[in-house]
Amino acid sequence: MSQRTLVLLKPDAVRRGLTGEIISRIERKAGWRITALELRTLDQETLELHYGEHKGKPFYEPLVEFMASGPVVALIVEGERVIEGLRALAGPTDPIAAAPGSIRGDYGVIVRENLIHASDSEESAEREVKIFFAGRA
Ligand code: TYD
Ligand code: MG
Repeated sequence: MSQRTLVLLKPDAVRRGLTGEIISRIERKAGWRITALELRTLDQETLELHYGEHKGKPFYEPLVEFMASGPVVALIVEGERVIEGLRALAGPTDPIAAAPGSIRGDYGVIVRENLIHASDSEESAEREVKIFFAGRA
């Protein structure tokens, strides 16, 4: 089942020079294609839309501050079971609980600075693609 998903390489990944490494892992998966890619600094409105489900939670304000602290790389990735596949490649939210071999497991320590976002369902993917690439994908 071919799908598309929205991926963000978060400000920590950009600051640490890990975007090339992470993008190569995505590119090496057979049959997955990057169909949009952009470096940009996110404004409050975009972050409120993207992380709206978490508004009111204790980690929300520091999360938004972190996500606006520097540029991110936003990508659309298309291919076979790419939504589930990218969640697996990213690993669980807490990098310490993430297995070595996953992106968060290999490079992360702090929950907030966990390097990568990947849409968690088809509905989220379509919603998030619209937020980041409205009218362009
Ligand atoms: P969430 O959607 O639960 O995780 P995921 O990115 O794996 O879908 O949370 C969104 C982001 O919020 C998460 O990537 C990191 C941050 N976060 C915290 O800083 N503290 C927390 O306790 C949680 C659950 C998330
Ligand atoms: Mg999530």
